[in-house]
Amino acid sequence: MLRDRYDNPISTSSAQARDLYVTAVDKLLEGAPRMVEAFEAVVTEDPDFALGVAGLARANQATGNVAKARETIAKARALATGITEREASHINVFDLLANGRTADGLAAVVDHARFHPRDAMVVQTSTSIFGLIGFSGLPGREAEMLAFTSSLQQHYADDWWYLSQYAFALCETGQVDKASSIIDRSMASNPRNAHGAHVRSHIDYEAGETQAGVTYLNDWLKDYDRSAVMHGHLSWHVALWALQLGDTDQMWQRVDADVKPGAALGMPINILSDTASILYRAELAGETVPKERWREVSAYAAKFFPNPGLSFIDYHAALAHAMAGDGEALANIISNPKGPAGDLVRDVAEAFGAIAGQDWLKAETLLTSCMADDARLGGSRAQRDLLEFSLLECLLKQGKAEEARRLIALRRPVLADTHLVQGL
Ligand SMILES: [Fe+2]
Repeated sequence: MLRDRYDNPISTSSAQARDLYVTAVDKLLEGAPRMVEAFEAVVTEDPDFALGVAGLARANQATGNVAKARETIAKARALATGITEREASHINVFDLLANGRTADGLAAVVDHARFHPRDAMVVQTSTSIFGLIGFSGLPGREAEMLAFTSSLQQHYADDWWYLSQYAFALCETGQVDKASSIIDRSMASNPRNAHGAHVRSHIDYEAGETQAGVTYLNDWLKDYDRSAVMHGHLSWHVALWALQLGDTDQMWQRVDADVKPGAALGMPINILSDTASILYRAELAGETVPKERWREVSAYAAKFFPNPGLSFIDYHAALAHAMAGDGEALANIISNPKGPAGDLVRDVAEAFGAIAGQDWLKAETLLTSCMADDARLGGSRAQRDLLEFSLLECLLKQGKAEEARRLIALRRPVLADTHLVQGL
Protein backbone atom coordinates (compact mmCIF):
# COMPACT_ATOMS: atom_id res chain seq x y z
CA MET A 1 0.00 0.00 0.00
CA LEU A 2 1.02 3.59 -0.53
CA ARG A 3 1.69 5.62 2.61
CA ASP A 4 1.28 9.25 3.66
CA ARG A 5 4.09 11.44 5.08
CA TYR A 6 3.45 10.00 8.55
CA ASP A 7 3.78 6.46 7.20
CA ASN A 8 0.07 5.64 7.51
CA PRO A 9 -1.16 3.24 4.76
CA ILE A 10 -3.68 4.93 2.45
CA SER A 11 -6.20 3.34 0.09
CA THR A 12 -5.33 4.83 -3.25
CA SER A 13 -3.39 3.15 -6.01
CA SER A 14 -2.44 6.49 -7.58
CA ALA A 15 1.02 7.71 -6.61
CA GLN A 16 0.00 11.12 -7.94
CA ALA A 17 -3.03 11.19 -5.60
CA ARG A 18 -0.76 10.19 -2.71
CA ASP A 19 1.68 12.99 -3.48
CA LEU A 20 -1.14 15.51 -3.76
CA TYR A 21 -2.60 14.23 -0.48
CA VAL A 22 0.72 14.68 1.32
CA THR A 23 0.90 18.25 0.02
CA ALA A 24 -2.70 18.97 1.00
CA VAL A 25 -2.27 17.60 4.52
CA ASP A 26 0.82 19.73 5.02
CA LYS A 27 -1.08 22.80 3.80
CA LEU A 28 -3.80 22.13 6.36
CA LEU A 29 -1.29 21.51 9.15
CA GLU A 30 0.57 24.75 8.43
CA GLY A 31 -2.50 26.95 7.83
CA ALA A 32 -1.38 27.61 4.26
CA PRO A 33 -3.52 29.40 1.66
CA ARG A 34 -5.66 27.35 -0.74
CA MET A 35 -5.89 24.24 1.42
CA VAL A 36 -9.37 23.44 0.08
CA GLU A 37 -8.10 23.62 -3.49
CA ALA A 38 -5.23 21.30 -2.53
CA PHE A 39 -7.66 18.62 -1.35
CA GLU A 40 -9.86 19.19 -4.41
CA ALA A 41 -6.83 18.30 -6.53
CA VAL A 42 -6.51 15.02 -4.61
CA VAL A 43 -10.16 14.16 -5.26
CA THR A 44 -9.89 15.10 -8.94
CA GLU A 45 -6.93 12.76 -9.28
CA ASP A 46 -8.65 9.85 -7.48
CA PRO A 47 -12.39 10.42 -6.87
CA ASP A 48 -12.65 7.09 -5.01
CA PHE A 49 -9.92 7.88 -2.49
CA ALA A 50 -12.07 8.07 0.66
CA LEU A 51 -9.44 9.77 2.82
CA GLY A 52 -8.86 12.41 0.16
CA VAL A 53 -12.59 13.21 0.24
CA ALA A 54 -12.55 13.23 4.06
CA GLY A 55 -9.61 15.64 3.91
CA LEU A 56 -11.61 17.92 1.63
CA ALA A 57 -14.42 17.87 4.20
CA ARG A 58 -12.00 18.72 6.97
CA ALA A 59 -10.40 21.55 4.94
CA ASN A 60 -13.85 23.02 4.34
CA GLN A 61 -14.64 22.85 8.04
CA ALA A 62 -11.26 24.36 8.95
CA THR A 63 -12.00 27.32 6.68
CA GLY A 64 -15.53 27.85 7.97
CA ASN A 65 -17.63 26.18 5.27
CA VAL A 66 -19.66 23.91 7.54
CA ALA A 67 -22.38 23.02 5.01
CA LYS A 68 -19.82 21.92 2.44
CA ALA A 69 -17.96 19.92 5.10
CA ARG A 70 -21.16 18.03 5.97
CA GLU A 71 -21.99 17.32 2.36
CA THR A 72 -18.44 16.15 1.60
CA ILE A 73 -17.97 13.90 4.62
CA ALA A 74 -21.17 12.08 3.61
CA LYS A 75 -19.49 11.33 0.28
CA ALA A 76 -16.40 10.03 2.11
CA ARG A 77 -18.63 7.74 4.18
CA ALA A 78 -20.19 6.36 1.02
CA LEU A 79 -16.69 5.49 -0.25
CA ALA A 80 -15.61 3.83 3.00
CA THR A 81 -15.63 0.22 1.88
CA GLY A 82 -12.52 -1.88 1.43
CA ILE A 83 -10.41 0.61 3.35
CA THR A 84 -8.25 0.10 6.44
CA GLU A 85 -9.64 0.22 9.97
CA ARG A 86 -7.56 3.39 10.56
CA GLU A 87 -9.12 5.13 7.59
CA ALA A 88 -12.65 4.13 8.63
CA SER A 89 -12.04 5.47 12.14
CA HIS A 90 -10.50 8.67 10.65
CA ILE A 91 -13.61 9.28 8.54
CA ASN A 92 -15.83 8.60 11.53
CA VAL A 93 -14.06 11.32 13.54
CA PHE A 94 -14.57 13.91 10.80
CA ASP A 95 -18.17 12.82 10.36
CA LEU A 96 -18.82 13.51 14.06
CA LEU A 97 -17.08 16.89 13.89
CA ALA A 98 -18.75 18.04 10.68
CA ASN A 99 -22.10 17.26 12.27
CA GLY A 100 -21.37 19.21 15.44
CA ARG A 101 -21.01 16.22 17.77
CA THR A 102 -17.88 17.61 19.42
CA ALA A 103 -18.00 15.72 22.74
CA ASP A 104 -18.40 12.38 20.92
CA GLY A 105 -15.76 13.56 18.48
CA LEU A 106 -13.21 14.21 21.23
CA ALA A 107 -13.81 10.74 22.72
CA ALA A 108 -13.33 9.24 19.25
CA VAL A 109 -10.11 11.22 18.69
CA VAL A 110 -8.62 10.07 22.01
CA ASP A 111 -9.51 6.48 21.21
CA HIS A 112 -8.16 6.77 17.65
CA ALA A 113 -4.90 8.32 18.87
CA ARG A 114 -4.19 5.34 21.13
CA PHE A 115 -3.97 3.05 18.10
CA HIS A 116 -2.95 5.51 15.38
CA PRO A 117 -0.94 8.26 17.09
CA ARG A 118 0.70 9.31 13.80
CA ASP A 119 -2.61 10.13 12.16
CA ALA A 120 -1.81 13.86 12.37
CA MET A 121 -5.00 14.93 10.60
CA VAL A 122 -7.06 13.39 13.40
CA VAL A 123 -4.95 14.28 16.43
CA GLN A 124 -4.61 17.82 15.07
CA THR A 125 -8.26 18.41 15.98
CA SER A 126 -7.42 18.29 19.67
CA THR A 127 -3.98 19.82 20.02
CA SER A 128 -4.46 23.56 19.68
CA ILE A 129 -6.31 26.29 21.55
CA PHE A 130 -9.10 26.21 18.95
CA GLY A 131 -9.39 22.41 19.22
CA LEU A 132 -11.75 19.96 20.84
CA ILE A 133 -9.97 20.01 24.20
CA GLY A 134 -9.49 23.78 24.04
CA PHE A 135 -13.20 24.34 23.51
CA SER A 136 -14.42 21.55 25.79
CA GLY A 137 -15.40 23.98 28.54
CA LEU A 138 -14.02 21.52 31.08
CA PRO A 139 -11.97 22.47 34.14
CA GLY A 140 -8.29 21.78 33.63
CA ARG A 141 -8.48 21.85 29.85
CA GLU A 142 -5.09 23.59 29.47
CA ALA A 143 -3.38 20.80 31.43
CA GLU A 144 -5.37 18.23 29.47
CA MET A 145 -4.15 19.72 26.20
CA LEU A 146 -0.56 19.47 27.41
CA ALA A 147 -1.12 15.89 28.61
CA PHE A 148 -2.66 14.83 25.29
CA THR A 149 0.05 16.55 23.24
CA SER A 150 2.85 15.19 25.46
CA SER A 151 1.51 11.66 25.08
CA LEU A 152 2.23 11.89 21.34
CA GLN A 153 5.84 13.02 21.71
CA GLN A 154 7.43 9.58 21.34
CA HIS A 155 5.64 9.11 17.99
CA TYR A 156 6.68 12.34 16.26
CA ALA A 157 10.36 12.96 17.06
CA ASP A 158 11.35 16.24 15.33
CA ASP A 159 8.26 16.67 13.14
CA TRP A 160 7.68 20.41 12.57
CA TRP A 161 3.91 20.23 12.97
CA TYR A 162 4.06 18.24 16.18
CA LEU A 163 6.71 20.46 17.74
CA SER A 164 4.64 23.59 17.05
CA GLN A 165 1.62 22.12 18.83
CA TYR A 166 3.69 20.82 21.74
CA ALA A 167 5.24 24.29 22.12
CA PHE A 168 1.75 25.88 22.19
CA ALA A 169 0.58 23.54 24.96
CA LEU A 170 3.74 24.31 26.96
CA CYS A 171 3.34 28.05 26.44
CA GLU A 172 -0.26 28.08 27.63
CA THR A 173 0.65 26.19 30.80
CA GLY A 174 3.46 28.57 31.67
CA GLN A 175 6.52 26.68 30.39
CA VAL A 176 7.55 29.60 28.19
CA ASP A 177 11.32 28.99 27.96
CA LYS A 178 10.93 25.36 26.99
CA ALA A 179 8.21 26.32 24.50
CA SER A 180 10.56 28.89 22.98
CA SER A 181 13.37 26.43 22.26
CA ILE A 182 10.92 23.89 20.81
CA ILE A 183 9.23 26.39 18.48
CA ASP A 184 12.67 27.42 17.22
CA ARG A 185 13.31 23.78 16.24
CA SER A 186 9.90 23.58 14.58
CA MET A 187 10.31 26.80 12.57
CA ALA A 188 13.84 25.84 11.51
CA SER A 189 12.30 22.77 9.89
CA ASN A 190 9.34 24.59 8.29
CA PRO A 191 9.60 28.41 8.41
CA ARG A 192 6.28 28.85 6.56
CA ASN A 193 4.15 27.14 9.19
CA ALA A 194 1.59 29.84 10.07
CA HIS A 195 0.54 27.99 13.21
CA GLY A 196 4.20 27.95 14.22
CA ALA A 197 4.50 31.71 13.67
CA HIS A 198 1.35 32.03 15.78
CA VAL A 199 2.86 29.98 18.60
CA ARG A 200 6.06 32.08 18.42
CA SER A 201 3.84 35.15 18.83
CA HIS A 202 2.15 33.75 21.92
CA ILE A 203 5.51 32.85 23.44
CA ASP A 204 6.79 36.39 22.84
CA TYR A 205 3.59 37.79 24.36
CA GLU A 206 3.92 35.63 27.45
CA ALA A 207 7.61 36.56 27.74
CA GLY A 208 6.86 40.28 27.47
CA GLU A 209 8.92 40.55 24.27
CA THR A 210 6.66 43.19 22.74
CA GLN A 211 9.00 44.98 20.32
CA ALA A 212 10.75 41.77 19.24
CA GLY A 213 7.38 40.11 18.76
CA VAL A 214 5.84 42.81 16.58
CA THR A 215 9.00 43.06 14.48
CA TYR A 216 9.08 39.30 13.96
CA LEU A 217 5.41 38.99 13.10
CA ASN A 218 5.23 41.99 10.75
CA ASP A 219 8.17 40.51 8.88
CA TRP A 220 6.69 37.00 8.78
CA LEU A 221 3.32 38.26 7.53
CA LYS A 222 4.87 39.89 4.45
CA ASP A 223 4.96 36.54 2.68
CA TYR A 224 1.66 35.18 3.99
CA ASP A 225 -1.37 35.31 1.70
CA ARG A 226 -4.24 37.47 3.01
CA SER A 227 -6.74 34.74 2.17
CA ALA A 228 -5.05 32.16 4.41
CA VAL A 229 -6.77 31.01 7.56
CA MET A 230 -4.43 32.58 10.14
CA HIS A 231 -3.90 35.98 8.48
CA GLY A 232 -6.59 37.88 10.37
CA HIS A 233 -5.71 36.48 13.77
CA LEU A 234 -1.98 37.07 13.30
CA SER A 235 -2.89 40.64 12.35
CA TRP A 236 -4.79 40.89 15.65
CA HIS A 237 -1.57 39.96 17.43
CA VAL A 238 0.25 42.77 15.59
CA ALA A 239 -2.53 45.23 16.44
CA LEU A 240 -2.45 44.24 20.11
CA TRP A 241 1.29 44.72 20.32
CA ALA A 242 1.03 48.05 18.51
CA LEU A 243 -1.49 49.14 21.16
CA GLN A 244 0.85 47.95 23.88
CA LEU A 245 3.65 50.06 22.35
CA GLY A 246 1.40 53.11 22.15
CA ASP A 247 1.44 53.01 18.34
CA THR A 248 -2.30 53.43 17.85
CA ASP A 249 -1.87 54.46 14.20
CA GLN A 250 -0.42 51.05 13.40
CA MET A 251 -3.11 49.39 15.51
CA TRP A 252 -6.02 51.01 13.64
CA GLN A 253 -4.32 50.46 10.30
CA ARG A 254 -4.07 46.72 11.03
CA VAL A 255 -7.63 46.52 12.36
CA ASP A 256 -9.08 48.29 9.33
CA ALA A 257 -7.00 46.40 6.78
CA ASP A 258 -6.91 42.87 8.18
CA VAL A 259 -9.02 42.22 11.28
CA LYS A 260 -12.52 43.71 11.16
CA PRO A 261 -15.63 42.48 9.31
CA GLY A 262 -15.44 43.32 5.64
CA ALA A 263 -11.64 43.44 5.69
CA ALA A 264 -10.48 40.09 7.09
CA LEU A 265 -10.92 37.06 4.85
CA GLY A 266 -10.63 34.40 7.56
CA MET A 267 -13.04 32.47 9.75
CA PRO A 268 -16.04 34.26 11.31
CA ILE A 269 -14.97 33.03 14.77
CA ASN A 270 -11.71 34.97 14.41
CA ILE A 271 -13.27 38.02 12.79
CA LEU A 272 -15.79 38.38 15.63
CA SER A 273 -13.51 37.58 18.56
CA ASP A 274 -10.47 39.48 17.29
CA THR A 275 -12.46 42.61 16.41
CA ALA A 276 -14.48 42.72 19.62
CA SER A 277 -11.33 42.04 21.60
CA ILE A 278 -9.13 44.72 20.02
CA LEU A 279 -11.89 47.36 20.21
CA TYR A 280 -12.33 46.80 23.91
CA ARG A 281 -8.62 46.46 24.60
CA ALA A 282 -8.23 49.84 22.83
CA GLU A 283 -10.96 51.37 25.03
CA LEU A 284 -9.31 49.97 28.14
CA ALA A 285 -6.02 51.56 27.08
CA GLY A 286 -7.73 54.93 26.75
CA GLU A 287 -8.59 55.07 23.05
CA THR A 288 -11.94 56.47 21.98
CA VAL A 289 -13.80 53.84 19.96
CA PRO A 290 -16.68 55.22 17.89
CA LYS A 291 -20.03 53.54 18.58
CA GLU A 292 -20.33 52.75 14.88
CA ARG A 293 -17.42 50.30 15.17
CA TRP A 294 -19.26 48.44 17.91
CA ARG A 295 -22.50 48.40 15.92
CA GLU A 296 -20.61 46.88 12.99
CA VAL A 297 -19.17 43.98 15.01
CA SER A 298 -22.46 43.47 16.89
CA ALA A 299 -24.31 43.15 13.58
CA TYR A 300 -21.65 40.72 12.35
CA ALA A 301 -22.12 38.58 15.48
CA ALA A 302 -25.90 38.61 15.06
CA LYS A 303 -25.57 37.55 11.42
CA PHE A 304 -23.00 34.77 11.79
CA PHE A 305 -23.81 33.55 15.31
CA PRO A 306 -27.51 34.25 15.91
CA ASN A 307 -27.82 31.40 18.41
CA PRO A 308 -25.49 30.80 21.37
CA GLY A 309 -23.55 27.54 21.23
CA LEU A 310 -19.79 27.95 21.62
CA SER A 311 -18.80 29.76 24.80
CA PHE A 312 -15.73 31.44 23.33
CA ILE A 313 -17.83 33.01 20.58
CA ASP A 314 -20.75 33.82 22.86
CA TYR A 315 -18.82 35.93 25.34
CA HIS A 316 -17.22 37.98 22.57
CA ALA A 317 -20.63 38.43 20.94
CA ALA A 318 -21.99 39.54 24.31
CA LEU A 319 -19.26 42.17 24.57
CA ALA A 320 -20.09 43.48 21.10
CA HIS A 321 -23.84 43.61 21.77
CA ALA A 322 -23.34 45.30 25.16
CA MET A 323 -21.06 47.99 23.74
CA ALA A 324 -23.30 48.54 20.72
CA GLY A 325 -26.33 48.91 22.99
CA ASP A 326 -28.20 45.93 21.54
CA GLY A 327 -29.93 44.82 24.74
CA GLU A 328 -32.09 42.25 22.98
CA ALA A 329 -29.15 40.35 21.47
CA LEU A 330 -27.30 40.52 24.79
CA ALA A 331 -30.36 39.20 26.67
CA ASN A 332 -30.59 36.31 24.21
CA ILE A 333 -27.10 35.16 25.26
CA ILE A 334 -27.70 35.73 28.97
CA SER A 335 -30.94 33.76 28.98
CA ASN A 336 -29.78 31.01 26.66
CA PRO A 337 -26.10 30.17 27.28
CA LYS A 338 -25.94 26.78 25.59
CA GLY A 339 -22.17 26.38 25.21
CA PRO A 340 -19.96 24.06 27.26
CA ALA A 341 -19.07 26.88 29.68
CA GLY A 342 -22.53 28.44 29.55
CA ASP A 343 -22.62 29.11 33.28
CA LEU A 344 -19.60 31.40 32.92
CA VAL A 345 -20.88 32.96 29.70
CA ARG A 346 -24.02 34.09 31.51
CA ASP A 347 -21.96 35.91 34.14
CA VAL A 348 -19.51 37.44 31.66
CA ALA A 349 -22.33 38.60 29.40
CA GLU A 350 -24.13 40.18 32.34
CA ALA A 351 -20.85 41.77 33.41
CA PHE A 352 -20.38 43.39 30.00
CA GLY A 353 -23.96 44.65 30.22
CA ALA A 354 -23.15 46.14 33.61
CA ILE A 355 -19.95 47.72 32.25
CA ALA A 356 -21.91 49.31 29.41
CA GLY A 357 -24.29 50.71 32.06
CA GLN A 358 -21.33 51.78 34.24
CA ASP A 359 -22.46 49.57 37.13
CA TRP A 360 -18.84 48.82 38.06
CA LEU A 361 -19.52 46.99 41.31
CA LYS A 362 -21.97 44.59 39.67
CA ALA A 363 -19.52 43.94 36.82
CA GLU A 364 -16.67 43.41 39.30
CA THR A 365 -18.72 40.89 41.27
CA LEU A 366 -19.73 38.92 38.18
CA LEU A 367 -16.24 38.88 36.64
CA THR A 368 -14.61 37.91 39.92
CA SER A 369 -16.72 34.78 40.13
CA CYS A 370 -15.62 33.78 36.61
CA MET A 371 -11.93 34.42 36.99
CA ALA A 372 -11.28 31.43 39.22
CA ASP A 373 -11.50 29.24 36.11
CA ASP A 374 -11.86 31.54 33.10
CA ALA A 375 -9.87 29.07 30.95
CA ARG A 376 -13.10 27.09 30.64
CA LEU A 377 -14.41 29.89 28.39
CA GLY A 378 -11.83 28.94 25.77
CA GLY A 379 -9.14 30.93 23.99
CA SER A 380 -5.52 31.64 24.72
CA ARG A 381 -4.16 33.45 27.74
CA ALA A 382 -3.55 36.47 25.51
CA GLN A 383 -7.20 36.42 24.44
CA ARG A 384 -8.46 36.02 27.99
CA ASP A 385 -6.50 39.07 29.10
CA LEU A 386 -9.60 40.86 27.83
CA LEU A 387 -11.36 39.56 30.94
CA GLU A 388 -8.42 40.21 33.25
CA PHE A 389 -8.22 43.83 32.14
CA SER A 390 -11.99 44.32 32.19
CA LEU A 391 -11.94 43.37 35.86
CA LEU A 392 -9.07 45.80 36.50
CA GLU A 393 -11.08 48.57 34.88
CA CYS A 394 -14.03 47.83 37.17
CA LEU A 395 -11.76 48.18 40.19
CA LEU A 396 -10.13 51.38 38.92
CA LYS A 397 -13.51 53.00 38.22
CA GLN A 398 -14.39 52.43 41.87
CA GLY A 399 -11.14 53.92 43.14
CA LYS A 400 -9.66 50.53 44.03
CA ALA A 401 -6.30 51.12 42.30
CA GLU A 402 -4.25 49.30 44.92
CA GLU A 403 -6.40 46.20 44.56
CA ALA A 404 -6.11 46.40 40.77
CA ARG A 405 -2.32 46.61 40.93
CA ARG A 406 -2.15 43.65 43.32
CA LEU A 407 -4.43 41.62 41.09
CA ILE A 408 -2.39 42.06 37.91
CA ALA A 409 0.87 41.45 39.79
CA LEU A 410 -0.63 38.21 41.06
CA ARG A 411 -2.30 36.94 37.89
CA ARG A 412 -0.36 38.47 34.96
CA PRO A 413 2.96 39.74 36.33
CA VAL A 414 4.57 40.01 32.89
CA LEU A 415 1.96 42.64 31.96
CA ALA A 416 2.01 44.55 35.26
CA ASP A 417 4.24 47.37 33.99
CA THR A 418 2.51 47.86 30.65
CA HIS A 419 -0.01 50.58 29.87
CA LEU A 420 -2.78 48.26 28.80
CA VAL A 421 -5.36 49.68 31.20
CA GLN A 422 -5.59 53.43 31.51
CA GLY A 423 -5.08 54.64 35.06
CA LEU A 424 -3.36 51.55 36.36
FE1 LIG B 1 -3.38 33.93 19.14
